[in-house]
Amino acid sequence: MTRVRTKVAVVLAATALVAVSACSSSDTNKPSGTGAAVKNVEVFTWWAAGGEKAGLDGMISVFKKDCSQYTFVNAAVAGGGGDKAKTLLANNLKAGNAPDSFQAHAGGELSDYIANGQVEDITAVFKAAGLDTAFPKDLLDQITVAGKVYSVPADIHRANMVWVNPLVLKKAKLDPAKAPATVKDWIADLAKLKAAGVATPLALSKGFAEEMLLESTLLGDLGVDKFNGLYDGKTKWDGADVTAAINDYKTLVSYSNTDRETMDWDAAMSKYLLPTDPKTATGGYQLMGDWVPAQILSLKMPESSYMYWPAPGTDGVYQWLSDSFTLPKGAKNPEGDKCWLKVVGSAEGQKAFNLVKGSIPARSDATSEGYPKYQQWAMEQWKAAKLAPSLAHGSAGPGAWNNDVQTALSAFSANSDVPTLQKSLVAAAGKYANWRSTVG
Ligand code: GAL
Repeated sequence: MTRVRTKVAVVLAATALVAVSACSSSDTNKPSGTGAAVKNVEVFTWWAAGGEKAGLDGMISVFKKDCSQYTFVNAAVAGGGGDKAKTLLANNLKAGNAPDSFQAHAGGELSDYIANGQVEDITAVFKAAGLDTAFPKDLLDQITVAGKVYSVPADIHRANMVWVNPLVLKKAKLDPAKAPATVKDWIADLAKLKAAGVATPLALSKGFAEEMLLESTLLGDLGVDKFNGLYDGKTKWDGADVTAAINDYKTLVSYSNTDRETMDWDAAMSKYLLPTDPKTATGGYQLMGDWVPAQILSLKMPESSYMYWPAPGTDGVYQWLSDSFTLPKGAKNPEGDKCWLKVVGSAEGQKAFNLVKGSIPARSDATSEGYPKYQQWAMEQWKAAKLAPSLAHGSAGPGAWNNDVQTALSAFSANSDVPTLQKSLVAAAGKYANWRSTVG
């Protein structure tokens, strides 16, 4: 995003556009060669359970109404952040077995699929559905390469959030509503929790959750401009300020559960932060994206069971990510997918989805009416915040960079070796620094 300074793309060109089949009930879809109508629309995501599934189900309900000539086929593959889904998808795409649509993060992650020629230019679909004016220009830039649009954004999530169990914080006489101003202040509060006998001051899980904690620590310690510089080459990964932030990260991890490598974010949340009986909780905080309120909603736990604030040192910054949907090359039902994409981009589809997903609509015309308290607050924050991208969720860089960082963090979880981690981060940044030039 321009505010983010990680432009994938150039401009959304107002080129001549081909007419697009609309999603009217009179639509039929007869692929050449078979003569048979393709009804199924297979959509691939990692939203298989909890609040994430609730979000997808909301979107599906609008699809069933607006695209009743088609049948939705849910190809969700479980695993937070898409760890398993993305590997399976990559294999399927290579094998020529594409779904009709798949989830990809706007920005670097989408650019992989574009660079590999695995997704179609959907500029015409976009234009026909009036979507070229529906999203903020900054977000359009993240899904556009050389004037061509490649996906439809469904939402905006925020990564730099901390979720708090108020009952646990009270054990150390900490005010759960008061965010520590800096990472160092947060570390001091974690020490207080430990001293008060709290077993797991910080609930942590594997893979992308460790990466989010590292990114939030870098963002809090370096500030937004220097942090953004890590992804556009202006800030050096081998700097002393990065070393200091990695040391803070090491301290934060030392306050977390030792079984972190064995579980996903939702399991860590249920085990430590918010067990069914919150009185039995042994965890004080969890740093996680704002799919957490959706999960809490789906578990039917009251809003009063948790509190939240932006990660220490990152107040006023929205570390954003956006789930978007594509039209893969080789999709069996491109017309059905176009109907799905139209729903994804529509005001009604975005509302049905975001109401229960914790995220806010990507469309600029959305209002906060009817949304839970968290999203109402998030929509306000989004308007005024400075933006930073997330490598863990594909907005800052390509998937291979993300994978290298997660591998390094998994090793760090076992050895706590700061110089080795920093060397790996420097190497990964060096390998992928020029990723933008490989797209389009
Ligand atoms: C992110 C995705 C979110 C949520 C999260 C946890 O990558 O953008 O929508 O699904 O993973 O699984």
